Amino acid sequence: MKIGIDKMAFATTDKYLDLRELARARNVDPDKYTIGIGQDQQAVVPPTQDIVTLAAAAAQKLLTPAAARRISTVIVATESGIDNSKAAAIYVKRLLGLSDFVRTVELKEACYSATAGLQFARGIVALNPQEEVLVIATDIARYGLNTPGEVTQGAGAVAMLVSRDPRVLAIEETSVSLTKDIMDFWRPLYATEALVDGKYSTSVYIDCFKEVLTRYQQLTGRPLADFGALLFHLPFTKMGKKALAAVLGDRTDGTAERLRQALTASQWACRQVGNLYTGSLYLALMSYLQNGDAHRGSRLGLFSYGSGAEGEFFTGILQPQFAENILPLTPALRQRQRVSVTEYERLFDEQLGMNPADVAFTTENDACPFVLTGQQDHQRQYRAN
Ligand code: CAA
Repeated sequence: MKIGIDKMAFATTDKYLDLRELARARNVDPDKYTIGIGQDQQAVVPPTQDIVTLAAAAAQKLLTPAAARRISTVIVATESGIDNSKAAAIYVKRLLGLSDFVRTVELKEACYSATAGLQFARGIVALNPQEEVLVIATDIARYGLNTPGEVTQGAGAVAMLVSRDPRVLAIEETSVSLTKDIMDFWRPLYATEALVDGKYSTSVYIDCFKEVLTRYQQLTGRPLADFGALLFHLPFTKMGKKALAAVLGDRTDGTAERLRQALTASQWACRQVGNLYTGSLYLALMSYLQNGDAHRGSRLGLFSYGSGAEGEFFTGILQPQFAENILPLTPALRQRQRVSVTEYERLFDEQLGMNPADVAFTTENDACPFVLTGQQDHQRQYRAN
C-alpha cells in the first residue's frame, strides 16, 4: 500500500522585512545577508500571530468537509510551543472545527519533529488505511534583535494530509535516522529566544547530512543519479548550498546540474520568509514542486535536521497529481505588507512571550484568518478573524 503526503498548504504572517534594510540598520554589507546568508526577506510576526494561528491558517486551506471527516489524528510539530503541558494541536483542532473524536498531540525535537510526525502518521495509516492524519509544522524562529542569528529568523506553517494512495509523494520504506546528544542550538524553559552556537551548528548539520546519506546509499546502493532532487531543511538558503556542495564537490555532470537547479527552485520560498524551523524542509519541497523541473515518478531525497541533534534522510516518489495538490505559495507571499525596521523591532518586542499578565491585542491591522486576541487568566485567547 502506498502511503504519504496527499496534499500540502503553507501559511505565513501578513508582514515582512526587507533584509537589505535590516543590513543597513545593523551596519552590515547587504550582500552578506542576500549572498553570504542567502536571504532576501523575513516574515515579521505581530503579537496577534503565534504557532496556533499560523498552523490553523495553513491547515484550513487543505480542509474540505469530507477531508475533515477522514482525519483521525492531528499532530502539531513545533519548537516554539506556547504551553509546557497542553498540546497546540487542541487549539488548532477547535479553530478548524474538527470533530471531538480526534487524537491530538504536539511533538518536539527542534526542526526535526515534523518528520517524526510524518513517519508516525504513516504508521497510523498503515494500521487503519481509512484514516487520514493532519501533520502541521509550525514555528516562529526568534533569535533576538542585533544577534548573528537575527537575519535567519522567520515564521510560518506547513500543513500536510497523510493518507493511503497519496496524490503528492509516496514515502518509501528505507530511511536513516541519526541522533547525537550535542549542544548546537537549544532554548531553555525560561527563554523566548534560542541559544545557538552558530558556526558549530552549521558544521554538525553538514556532518549529519553526509552520515545519513552515506548510510542510506550503503543500504540501498542508490547513486545520486537516481534522484530528481535533494531537498534540505533550510535554516537559511546558503545552508542547503553548503550541504549539496559537501556531496557534489565540483562535479559538473548532468546529475550535479539537475540537483543544483532543483536546490535553487527549493530555496525560492525560504528566501522570502526565512527559517520555518519544523516547516522549512516541507516549504522547500513545496517550493521545488512549484518552481522546479519536477516530474511524476521521480524519486526525491529529503534531509531533515533538528539541532540537539537528530537527522533523517528519507525518500519519496512523486505522484501524477502532485501539482494540483500543492496549494499555491504565491498568494501568501504576495499579499504581505512590507514594514520598516523600526516597526519590525516594535512588533518583535510586543509578542506575548512569557508575560503572565492579562493583555488585549488590537487585531484590526492583522489580515490573517486566525488571530490571538490576547491573554486572560493565563489563557491565550484565539478566534477566527
Ligand atoms: N558579501 C557576500 N558574502 C559575505 C559578505 C559580503 N559582504 N560578508 C560575509 N559574507 C559571507 C561569509 O563569507 C559567510 O559565508 P560562508 O558561510 O559561505 O563562509 C557568510 O556570509 C556568513 O557570515 P559569517 O561567517 O560572518 O557568519 P555570521 O557570524 O554572520 O553567522 C550564522 C552566520 C552562523 C548562520 C548565524 O546567522 C546563526 O547563528 N544563525 C542561526 C543558526 C543556524 O541557522 N544554524 C544552521 C544550522 S542548525 C539548523 O539547521 C537548525 C535550525 O534551524 C536553527
